Amino acid sequence: MLFTDNPTIHKIELTVNNNLITQSIPTHLRLLDFLRNELNLTGAKEVCAEGECGACTVIMDGKIVNSCLVFAVEANGSEITTIEGIGKESELSDLQKAFVDHHSVQCGYCIPGMILAGEQLLKDNPTASEEEIKQGISGNICRCTGYTKIIDAVSSLTTKTQRHEEEQK
Ligand code: FES
Ligand code: FES
Repeated sequence: MLFTDNPTIHKIELTVNNNLITQSIPTHLRLLDFLRNELNLTGAKEVCAEGECGACTVIMDGKIVNSCLVFAVEANGSEITTIEGIGKESELSDLQKAFVDHHSVQCGYCIPGMILAGEQLLKDNPTASEEEIKQGISGNICRCTGYTKIIDAVSSLTTKTQRHEEEQK
């Protein structure tokens, strides 16, 4: 991070969805606001603003974080993935397709965070059990679905489930 002539403004450089971004920002700017307001990446949502709901989840250097609790200056030098970096409407990721196939989405407000938590979980633990999936998404609150269909969607992509389905054919 570079200091500028103004001590409350910092120049940061980070990678967001594989794009290198260099920008001067105020010290107090949260990562959530940087993504939404400066980069127009509005998939991460603000609900609680205190790290409880997971609606603002992004992946930072291979870990899910609540972007409402991270200052943008803390993300200097890091690699960030937001929901916009996961898939497009015409080219959904396997997990996004699984959410559609399992009817895991109702209002959709929690879904960007849920998908990112699920993507990282499957990357870290491709054989995750149902309990491990519950643990993996425990920081993400959904007020609509009752979680079952979300867990089913993530579970459908674990190697254990896929192996079992292969054996049934
Ligand atoms: S808005 Fe960040 S955890 Fe709720
Ligand atoms: S789908 Fe509405 S909050 Fe999760």
